Amino acid sequence: MEEVLTNPSAGYYLHQEVFGAAGSFITSPDVSQMFGEMIGIWSVSLWEQMGKPRKLQLVELGPGRGTLMQDLLRSTLTFKDFSKALSIHFVECSPALRKQQRRALQCPSEEKKHEGGDRPAVENSRSQRFETNVAWYLDLKDVPRGVPTIIIAQEFFDALPIHQFQHRLSQKTPVGWCEKLIDVDSRQANPFRFVLSSQPTAATLLYLKKRLNWITAVEEESIHHIEVCPKALQVSQEIAKRVAEDSGGGIIIDYGKDEPVTDSFQAIRNHEFVNVLDKPGTADLSAHVDFAAIKRMVAETASPTVSTYGPIFQQEFLAMLGINVRLEALVKDASDEQGEKLQLGYWRLVGEGPPPWLSEGDDGYKIQGMGKHYRVLAIADSKLGAPACFRQ
Ligand SMILES: C[S@@+](CC[C@H](N)C(=O)[O-])C[C@H]1O[C@@H](n2cnc3c(N)ncnc32)[C@H](O)[C@@H]1O
Repeated sequence: MEEVLTNPSAGYYLHQEVFGAAGSFITSPDVSQMFGEMIGIWSVSLWEQMGKPRKLQLVELGPGRGTLMQDLLRSTLTFKDFSKALSIHFVECSPALRKQQRRALQCPSEEKKHEGGDRPAVENSRSQRFETNVAWYLDLKDVPRGVPTIIIAQEFFDALPIHQFQHRLSQKTPVGWCEKLIDVDSRQANPFRFVLSSQPTAATLLYLKKRLNWITAVEEESIHHIEVCPKALQVSQEIAKRVAEDSGGGIIIDYGKDEPVTDSFQAIRNHEFVNVLDKPGTADLSAHVDFAAIKRMVAETASPTVSTYGPIFQQEFLAMLGINVRLEALVKDASDEQGEKLQLGYWRLVGEGPPPWLSEGDDGYKIQGMGKHYRVLAIADSKLGAPACFRQ
């Protein structure tokens, strides 16, 4: 999954037009400017809880086209001390997307630092539009330490590679949990196929054991498939350590569950679900995020200095930040056509199912609300109390 998405020469994110109508899918920041604006309000509020530090690192993991950050920075310009305190840090593996992010923030000059390998480890630039320093990294571990930090991960965790495990059923002796692997059968037109390991693999012993420790024996009995994402746990651990040592918080917005994820591995090409093993590198691969595992990992890493909050539904999160009020303000100054677009975008972010004012056959009826499909989890320095929208 990692190779298919991020391989430097053939990875899906490295060479494709992945977002929007021409790409495979559309994400919340590109649905409506209101999404980035709401994350901006949440960030300003957390910065205030942190005691308005004079220096603040705003880190975004997997910023895509840079739309969220552009909307966030534009809409928070009126909070002058917040804007002045900011430096922007993007964790992005794709040179093509880095280029789009530079364009979004108007960062013309670039200074690249190669540390071996064919991809620059660090790129530094400055946003002419927002008058703030911007830097790019390949990994969160490379982002400087020692400065209060807010970390945003919007649809980043779903792109991280998973392992799948399945109960191997045997009539004679039960083998137990085995790993789903990918085999090559070169006689077939599509040479890739799933196979189940004949016995537990190293990953079964290492990753699955940890995940199963976090559920009861009764819960385990009811599950026959399970997914584990070690990289998601590693990134969550890194967020928790930073928040504990440097102060601040992080927010993870994604589709997923607050319980073990059973079988969610999926591929999307041109807005349609396709076979995950078909033409690797030409479709977006993702898996649902296991928020329950992230919470347990953070608790093991940094409790009680760091707390997790949620996950809550995106619908609830955006409503509490005042998206309704923002919609009304935008619609007031909009043309009829723009107003309709804003309404549709709003529905897509907070609604469930198709827009209720449309009927089958109408343009836009196929749109599905993300309101209860996406969840939001916050990880924050416990001293700050619950971040906006979350209960203690
Ligand atoms: C699904 S896209 C989401 C983009 C954006 N946040 C949005 O919502 O529109 C995932 C993003 O994470 C980046 N990405 C995926 N895996 C990565 C990795 N291992 N390291 C760094 N960036 C990664 C992709 O290049 C892309 O920018």
